[in-house]
Amino acid sequence: MDKNLPAVALGTWAWGAEKTFGDNLNEAKLKPVVDQAMKMGLNLWDTAAVYGMGISETAVGDLLADYDRKDYYLSTKFSPQIASEHEKAMEEMLDGSLKRLKTDYVDLYWIHRPSDVEKWTKQLIPLVKSGKIKHVGVSNHNLAEIKQAQAILNDAGIKLAAVQNHFSLLYRSSEKAGIIDYCNKNDITFYSYMVLEQGALNGQYNVKNPLPEGSERAEKYNQMLPELETLTKKMAEIGKKYHANTAQIAEAWAINKKTTPIIGLTKEKYLKPTKDMIDIKLTNDEMKQLEDLAAATNLETKGFWEHAMI
Ligand SMILES: NC(=O)c1ccc[n+]([C@@H]2O[C@H](COP(=O)([O-])OP(=O)(O)OC[C@H]3O[C@@H](n4cnc5c(N)ncnc54)[C@H](OP(=O)(O)O)[C@@H]3O)[C@@H](O)[C@H]2O)c1
Repeated sequence: MDKNLPAVALGTWAWGAEKTFGDNLNEAKLKPVVDQAMKMGLNLWDTAAVYGMGISETAVGDLLADYDRKDYYLSTKFSPQIASEHEKAMEEMLDGSLKRLKTDYVDLYWIHRPSDVEKWTKQLIPLVKSGKIKHVGVSNHNLAEIKQAQAILNDAGIKLAAVQNHFSLLYRSSEKAGIIDYCNKNDITFYSYMVLEQGALNGQYNVKNPLPEGSERAEKYNQMLPELETLTKKMAEIGKKYHANTAQIAEAWAINKKTTPIIGLTKEKYLKPTKDMIDIKLTNDEMKQLEDLAAATNLETKGFWEHAMI
């Protein structure tokens, strides 16, 4: 993968999924956010064909259209759950993404879910050879599925570049399953998604100020907020030493675990803290305190789309 890639990616699921997040984001609101991110060198954008069924990709394409294509990286996904019966269903979906993203290649193309590893991994091969995809990754795959995809790609002379799974203080199944270790040993970048548990770990949401009413994230996380208090207080306390807030500690924890977080970007004010957090080196003792308190919450935050990693 390109050595110039930033240490964090910016996620755009919320840009197309108002029901999930309860945020009413549109391109006019997002324009200054994107411009500021680009100014700060945060230029790796993660999206998916399925996010808002094209709304997120369209916004990414529109808002980056005035920038030189060499100045940013696009990461998008093939989602088997919406694939057609077409013999070249992956190419068909990729072409739709390219059109919405206003480009002729993506830097990183993911298989979003492991529905039929052999069938879908094989469809990546001609797309890499044609130049429409620069690098490939798999998401929500367990270790056996990662190895299966990797073997198929290797046979075609293509390297599996990246894995993208849910990984946060509250959800460490990829670590327990040995996936993060495996990635680090095999030069595969591990991208952690939902390190903030959709805001539940950002220290701003609590019993008195819950996640946006009526959203799916509120339905999932608001009931967990009382149990999260001890953990988020400790995150804030550790943060003081680094002049960092709770969200920065959640993100820095993921970087200290040798992963690259994908932070869901919704507001311009989140960009500077995200960039500043990259250099925070937590001590082993701080990491352990955070992990012990997180484990003590006993909360289950697996997404409905995820399958067990172990
Ligand atoms: N491959 C997959 O299956 C998969 C699944 C899920 C996500 N993803 C990717 O990972 C990305 C991240 O996941 P996510 O967006 O679901 O959740 P997330 O990154 O855990 O949380 C995002 C939320 O946290 C808040 N936030 C963001 N930056 C913050 C900061 N610096 N300080 C305080 N709060 C901050 C925002 O809430 P407010 O807007 O309320 O302030 C935002 O909506 C997605 O956008 C997507 O690209 C991939």
